[in-house]
Amino acid sequence: MKEFIQLLPKAELHLHIEGSLEPELMFKLAERNRVEIPYGTVADVKEAYKFTNLQSFLDIYYAGASVLINKDDFYDLTYEYILKCVEDNVIHTEIFFDPQTHTHRGVAFDVVISGIKEALDDAKEKFGITSNIIMCFLRHLSQEDAFKTLEQSLPYKDIIIGVGLDSSELGNPPKKFEDVYNKAREEGFRLVAHAGEEGDVSYIETALDLLNIERIDHGVQAIHSQSLMQRLKDEQIPLTVCPNSNIELKVFETYKDHNIKYLLDYGLNVTVNSDDPAYFKGYMNKNFLNLYEHLDLSKDDIVTLVKNSFRSSFISDELKESYI
Ligand code: ADE
Ligand code: ZN
Repeated sequence: MKEFIQLLPKAELHLHIEGSLEPELMFKLAERNRVEIPYGTVADVKEAYKFTNLQSFLDIYYAGASVLINKDDFYDLTYEYILKCVEDNVIHTEIFFDPQTHTHRGVAFDVVISGIKEALDDAKEKFGITSNIIMCFLRHLSQEDAFKTLEQSLPYKDIIIGVGLDSSELGNPPKKFEDVYNKAREEGFRLVAHAGEEGDVSYIETALDLLNIERIDHGVQAIHSQSLMQRLKDEQIPLTVCPNSNIELKVFETYKDHNIKYLLDYGLNVTVNSDDPAYFKGYMNKNFLNLYEHLDLSKDDIVTLVKNSFRSSFISDELKESYI
């Protein structure tokens, strides 16, 4: 099965580039940029990666991102993730970045996007890996701040395909960002949002109804509403599920409790993704392998999940056909 997973060409639709910062690169960049980090060794870092919920992770994740200062740092970060894609046979990826995590520290929007873009261009040239970039608004910040970020992104509209919404879900419902999503839609951006990771079904429903999103990032809490499950099935709205993440952040206590197999069998358009792989013990293949080992997914299940990713991606219909 390991070989089967390895050999399947895959697409990833839910990956925070800042969440692919491996401890080794964190140390290298901390030294290069003379940034203090609260760890002495790589082992110390790994020891700190013990999370109790989403917020306990986010605190550490934002602190880690402080080593990213220059264009080269964003290039190296992205290129290292691309090398993992090569290793795992991921041939198309749609990556998130969080502009506010950087602009709030005085790092220019252009520095961030140009470093990421250059690495993705090299990925296409060297390995044939295709990609899209989605920028996320941090939902613990205000809508006004999200508007500022949207404004900053407009010169890069040909590089950034869509907008998303991430960070602390509980207490920051989709409604808070209704106006900025309307504006993003008018500007031609594709729309996604994290919903139903920790938040209840109302977060998913309002993300669909008020933000008009095309894909739901996570969405595993949908299981608590029969009517929502039926709607997701009827409309085949993609769910970008991140199994390792859900286990590490205690959304489900153990792998055996994860509901992805149930969602898939119900007929939902479910995909598998790695979210923040440097923090959650593994990239795409590790997520698939864990699903196989703990939830007894069949080869057919795995092929369905992979096909779902390609058909739910923001690539052209032509390219989609060539991939599926
Ligand atoms: N930012 C990075 N990873 C995230 C996640 N799993 N949920 C919300 N915000 C995030
Ligand atoms: Zn995420």
